[in-house]
Amino acid sequence: MPDTKAPIPLLMTPGPVPVPPSVLRALSAPIEHHRTPAFQKCFDRVIGALPAVFQTKNRAFMHVSTGTGGMESLLVNVLSPGDEVAAVVSGKFGERWADMAEAFGAKVERLDIEWGESVHLPTFTAWLEKRKPKIVLSQVCETSTGALHPVREMAQVVRRLHPDCLFLVDAITALGALPLPMDQWDIDGVVGGSQKAFMIPTGLSFVALSERAWARAQTAKCPRFYFDLRAEDEANRRGETGFSSAVPLIKALDVVLAEVATFGLPLLYKRIATLAQATREAMQILGLRIFPSTPSPSLTAILVPDGIDGQKWRSVLETKYSVVLMGGQDQMKGKLLRMGHMGFIRDPDLITAITAIVHAGREIGWECSDEKLATALKTAREILSETPSPWSET
Ligand SMILES: Cc1ncc(COP(=O)(O)O)c(C=O)c1O
Repeated sequence: MPDTKAPIPLLMTPGPVPVPPSVLRALSAPIEHHRTPAFQKCFDRVIGALPAVFQTKNRAFMHVSTGTGGMESLLVNVLSPGDEVAAVVSGKFGERWADMAEAFGAKVERLDIEWGESVHLPTFTAWLEKRKPKIVLSQVCETSTGALHPVREMAQVVRRLHPDCLFLVDAITALGALPLPMDQWDIDGVVGGSQKAFMIPTGLSFVALSERAWARAQTAKCPRFYFDLRAEDEANRRGETGFSSAVPLIKALDVVLAEVATFGLPLLYKRIATLAQATREAMQILGLRIFPSTPSPSLTAILVPDGIDGQKWRSVLETKYSVVLMGGQDQMKGKLLRMGHMGFIRDPDLITAITAIVHAGREIGWECSDEKLATALKTAREILSETPSPWSET
């Protein structure tokens, strides 16, 4: 039996993210069949609205899968076994995509980047000059470290050195959270995930391909079935999904996309950047450092000071203050607190999270004065007031 008296946790993780009441209502609607005229209309609206999020004139697709499924979709649709794939590996998710490409028979070359660092363009250029890749893979934001990569400039380097090479980006914590105009920046493939800036639960992934990538998809030799975008494209053109649709998730997405359309993507990006700035300035006042050298607006990875146990910090935050943050992974386990800035986050949520970080930290031996906390909260409130939450409260 679930504990009905337990407080609803304040979810401040970089995915899944908190969702607005309108999304919760859409998710609790009676079950509808996916092959009905009513749902078909909803599907048509959503699939028609998706390219604007990618800022592409091409079609965008969705899969019933987590983000990793979307990464697989992009890859298997354009890869042929034996292809050389150049993969940027700057954390957990870069490793995953490189491993996946290897599993599908690619000859993978990795550009290993120290965790917390972003791609250094001269190094990236020199590394690519020595190779003849068919595909280059990178995260936009490496969520395990919070680092943002300069994908716009990386796309230019790829195009200049290897005109036919495809540049695919994992934008699971970037799409909808920060500007990423794929056509304008000449990016060949972008993948996003529903539990991030799309603000609905986990279970849908989104992909879009450039014309160059779509042409490659027609001849690529990698076996594919569930993620075969050629079949999905045919189904979508009939107003259907290839397989059963995740009806509640798509209906919830319809609600989110309709609301975003009322205020526009630029304001969404600005609000997320504002939450990030308020968090970072507050952390600096508290004496806490930010881990990545170039942080993404979508999340902040806070370095846990030496001698303090980050896992304990997280656990006290969760059990005593009902504030959920993520920790570090692998080599950064116990050394990071990762806070997301995507989703339905109101000003008081961030103020509560900052206050709880201080109180929980003090309980495990970290020192921080009341004065510092008061200044940090005042600064955060001032920054937040510049871009209020655009989301409807109901
Ligand atoms: C950058 C990035 N790539 C891939 C993934 C994997 O997505 P999922 O857990 O939905 O499969 C995540 C999840 O957090 C991510 O942040």
